[in-house]
Parts: sequence; C-alpha cells; structure tokens
Amino acid sequence: MTALRVGIAGLGTVGGGVVKLLAEHADLHAARAGRGLRLAAASALEMPRALAPLLKNAVWHGDALDLAASPEVDVVVELIGGEEGIARKVVEKALQSGKSVVTANKALIAHHGNELAKAAEDNGASLLFEAAVAGGVPILKAMREGLAANRFVRVYGILNGTCNYILTEMEQTGRDFDEVLAEAQARGYAEANPSTDVDGFDAAHKLAILTAVAFGCPVNFSAVFVEGIRAVSALDIEFARELGYRIKLLGITGRGKAGIEQRVHPCMVWADTPIAQVSGVLNAVVAEGDFVGQTVFEGAGAGERPTASAVVGDLIDLARGRAAPPFAVPVSELVALPAQSMADRTGAYYVRLIVRDQPGVLADAAEVFAAAGVSIESVLQRGRDPKATVPLILTTHATTEAAMRRVRTALAGLAAVVEEPMLIRIESL
Ligand code: HSE
Repeated sequence: MTALRVGIAGLGTVGGGVVKLLAEHADLHAARAGRGLRLAAASALEMPRALAPLLKNAVWHGDALDLAASPEVDVVVELIGGEEGIARKVVEKALQSGKSVVTANKALIAHHGNELAKAAEDNGASLLFEAAVAGGVPILKAMREGLAANRFVRVYGILNGTCNYILTEMEQTGRDFDEVLAEAQARGYAEANPSTDVDGFDAAHKLAILTAVAFGCPVNFSAVFVEGIRAVSALDIEFARELGYRIKLLGITGRGKAGIEQRVHPCMVWADTPIAQVSGVLNAVVAEGDFVGQTVFEGAGAGERPTASAVVGDLIDLARGRAAPPFAVPVSELVALPAQSMADRTGAYYVRLIVRDQPGVLADAAEVFAAAGVSIESVLQRGRDPKATVPLILTTHATTEAAMRRVRTALAGLAAVVEEPMLIRIESL
C-alpha cells in the first residue's frame, strides 16, 4: 500500500517533535499502520537548522496555505496554533481540498470545531485533534473507542500543566502565587503572558472539547464557566491542608439537573483522591462511564515528545483508515443540550475572610450564612491579635452557587471584613 503523505504546517516545539518521531520510529509506524507515514511537505516561517536533514525529502512551502492545498499531501498537520488567522485558514483550506487534518490546536477546535467537523464530513475527510486535550494522554481516543459502550456521567481533570505546577509549588514551598509564577516564567515553565494558562482559558478550551466527545453535543465554549488561580493564596493552600484537601484547577463537565455543566475553577479535593495525587506539570483526566465506573488517565500534558506522540497516533489511525468521527458521532447526530448555569452548581464551599479580630465578627458572619439558608460545617481561626486582622475560615454543607454569591456579597459588606472574601468550591470526586 502506498505511504500516507504527511504535510506539516508549523515547525515549533511540537512540529519538530513530530518530524523526529516520524523519522525515529518509521518502521514501527509502518508495521502498526499497515503502510508507511512519509513526511512529504513542510512549512514554517523558517526551516529550523536541526531539522534540515530530516526534511531533505520533503517539499518546502514558504506559505502554509500552499501546503494545505498541495497535491503531494494526503494529510495536513496543523501545528501553528491560535484560534484564528493562518491556522484556521490552513485547516479550512485543507479540508476543502479533501485532505484530512490533524491538529494540536485546542483554541481552534473549541471555537470552530463544529464548522470544521462539518467541513471534514462534507469533503470526505477526517479531523483529529488528540494532542489538543491533555497533550500526550490519549483521552479522546479512549472516550471515543475504548469507552464507547458507556454513557458518560461526568468527566473532569487537571487540564493545564502550568497551573498544576504553580499550585504544587505553592503547596510544597508555602510561597504565594505571584512569586511562584515569576519563577516559573524565569525557568520557561510559564509563558511571558501567562493569562491563557493561569486565568483558566486553556483548560476551558480542552474542557469544551471533552464535553462534546463525552456527551455527543456540539462544542459550546461560551457555556464554560471559567475562573483561574490568581486569587488562590498561600493561606488557602495551608488551610486546605489542615482541612484534609488539596487545591487543584479542575475542568469539570457532567450531566447536571438543569443540563450539561461545564466549569473550570480552583477546587478543593480530598487529599487521598487520585486527582489530588497528580503533581507538577502533569495532566490527568477522570472519565466516569455508567458501566465502567471511574477510569483515570494521567501523563504529560505538553512538551515536544508527548504532544508528538498524540499527533502521530492520529496519523497512524488515518493511515489505517480507522479514524473515528471527531466528536464520537457524525455531525448530523450531535444533539445540542441545554447548558446548566453556574448559579445551579451544588456542593460545599470553603470561604476565607480576612477580618478585624474583635468580638461579634464571627456572629455577624454566621448571620449572613443563616440569612442565605446556608449551613456552616466548620469554622477555623488562627492567631489572636485584637489590633490586627486574622483569617477566618468557614466551610459549608452542600448549597448552591446562587446562595453563595449572596453570601459573598453580604460578607464583603461587613465592616470587619477587610478583603474581598475568597470562595473555593469543594468537590466530592
Ligand atoms: N500551556 C498548556 C499547559 C499546555 O500549561 O498545560 C498546552 O495546552
């Protein structure tokens, strides 16, 4: 059988990894795919010198759009990145030209996945993006194939390695967010502009994709509630430990009473749960199916070699002719499901107040909870200094987000509360 002719657009870290992996394991890939995977064309702003020997038999395109329509390519691998611009144009053009596409671009799929999946189907092509969610962890393939017999109940995970690294460092060193972020940037673990990671958007892109695959609905990124980790303090980490929890930025999607809930925010999880054990830059996804129960997938969520592993896994599927529909069912079978509002989230909460240490403060705070119909589970206060402020920690029994929003507003209005109250949702996983 003739080799699958691969064209790569974008030769950054991941593109370089794909070029190297295709070369290093060519025989293994051919044996597994039943045909070779041949690097036929490449495009980038510049050819990285280190890759030149591996690209000598590939046609070079200065313009990635030329590669997208080029007759010497069967599959286009888009590794440029970004939800708009050239990346989107390359993918659209490739699909319109009847070529299958493999991409690691989570923002593109989260924002335009529905139209792109339709364009793929209309043109008899495939669209695969395993590397877009949790990097090297083959969670999409597992959900579409190995777990295909199940109705998914809930899927959640640590979907951003940068945030997990920062939270892990804060926990292990007792340092605050700003300090750990600055160090992570200096070491190259965090981007110079860290917003996409630390404000939760990268995890939200991945969660929107997981939701579509899990529940067979169109991708609905705008329905994801997103809150990042900037407000988590060293104090919160310390109190979480005292209460038996760890703080993780989780993406959670599930069937709620009012529809599909999709949320990304810092969570307190019991320290002995599998997800709480995942530390540093690792990613992990827990997929809960009605027959299989809980399945846990963990591994590297980014980086040259793990991400290349996911991209080439997709290429091997294409070479075998066994690519599943991008969102597990044909586009015509996707069913739009109602989105549950964040206000309907139910569960327990951790509340951290910084208060003046004086008589009556706890009573006033307790009254706020009582007025909102929220039951307090525990109260913690450390330190005693009538001239200063102290942290006052309360945890609640299960309640709604709507009630806790009322509580937060009322607490912020108390004279003795000197900082914006911090709320962290406690998840029973
Ligand atoms: N920046 C992401 C992370 C990896 O920190 O996990 C790519 O999505």
